[in-house]
Amino acid sequence: MAKLWAGLADGSIDAAAEDFNRSIRVDSRMYRQDIAGSVAHAKMLAAQNIISPQDAEAIVNGLNGILSDIDAGRLKIDPEAEDIHTFIEQTLTERVGEPGKRLHTARSRNDQVALDVRMYLRERAEYTKSLLKGLMGALCDRAEETKSAVMPGYTHLQRAQPVTMGHHLMAYAMMFSRDLGRLTDAAARMNSSPIGCCALAGTTYDTDRRFEAELLGFDGVAENSLDGVSDRDFCVELGAALALIMTHLSRLSEELILWSSWEFKFIELSSAYSTGSSIMPQKKNPDMAELTRGKTGRVYGDLMALLTMLKGLPLAYNKDMQEDKELIFDAFDTVDACLTVCAPMIGTMTFKQENMRRAAAAGFINATDLADWLVGKGMPFRTAYKLTGELVAECTARGTTLEDLPLEAYRAKSELFDGSLYDAINIDTCLLRRTSYGGPTPESVERQIGLIKGLIK
Ligand code: ARG
Repeated sequence: MAKLWAGLADGSIDAAAEDFNRSIRVDSRMYRQDIAGSVAHAKMLAAQNIISPQDAEAIVNGLNGILSDIDAGRLKIDPEAEDIHTFIEQTLTERVGEPGKRLHTARSRNDQVALDVRMYLRERAEYTKSLLKGLMGALCDRAEETKSAVMPGYTHLQRAQPVTMGHHLMAYAMMFSRDLGRLTDAAARMNSSPIGCCALAGTTYDTDRRFEAELLGFDGVAENSLDGVSDRDFCVELGAALALIMTHLSRLSEELILWSSWEFKFIELSSAYSTGSSIMPQKKNPDMAELTRGKTGRVYGDLMALLTMLKGLPLAYNKDMQEDKELIFDAFDTVDACLTVCAPMIGTMTFKQENMRRAAAAGFINATDLADWLVGKGMPFRTAYKLTGELVAECTARGTTLEDLPLEAYRAKSELFDGSLYDAINIDTCLLRRTSYGGPTPESVERQIGLIKGLIK
């Protein structure tokens, strides 16, 4: 195919170099945005008397025909074309003749690609937000079910203090709510139109950038044409938001993997979201969670590559920037794929509440409460802490728990002890008495669920 740019560079490009240069494999997915941008551009050119209304009409009809033909599979995007912008413009000219050749007036592929990417990514951000909301909804539903299900809370992966499964799940819902906010913020900052910046230095034509931006649903226009065509910070911001979603998904996945092991067995994943082993018939493997954890590195890599691609670039457009799309598209594709399986995986897992409670009873997670009880009897906290430590050591030596240690053993350590200590260290009491704001009680979890549900409705 003839080169759009066959001027001084005469288009006699080496075949391998040509293939190296083309981005159609990656950017063909923006054909809808490219066509919408060109429709708006033709309308603006006509409104400003830069092209005739007849030419604009021929262009718009031609572009709409191309759109419906690609949508319906009647027109195949040529894999040999350099990029989607070239393909659409050349197809238009083949179809409508002269008017097609007027479309690229007062425009460059530099502002065109900057426009298309923004329009494509703002749709992707909306879609990812809807998936995030789905996951948050699933977490709320499961938290509602388990708001009273006591389990050990951990630090250093050592049993620490009592929480509920509902409380633990809602911690993730809070992380995802911030991810939602980050995507919203990044998408809002990105929604400023670069079209009309042209190659880098604007144009001598009397264009109306605001009119064109409005037609395309932008909130404003890039204020500096060099910046408009050469900034890709929106890709980095979205990439960072996506990387954090993966961080959160990966931590959650890690817990689901642990919890579904025989060592924990707090949950069992549904067969729909696990796999078997080809050799070990007893296995039910958490592959979806493991893949999610494993794919996190890809998204971090996309972000790092975006940052590195930009760091040394002089203004304005440089071909390096063609790399932006493959990276940010991969980040979106990966996050969306993970969210798509994680939400129903969480929605369908079963909780083994007896096992959580058993773990909660065995790990001395009421030791802080015992120390606090002694403080209530007048002992300084540091002394109470030390004495409780001795009691835990004694329980370990006797193979028992604080709940089952006889009163004499307690009184041998301190005269302050009486029978009421057993109520104070009962696991349910320990949980229900943690009434501080944001804590693990069923009421607190209820309130958290209410907050998240308010955000996602
Ligand atoms: N395919 C190019 C990209 O994705 C379009 C812009 C080309 N501009 C240029 N001056 N070669 O960045």
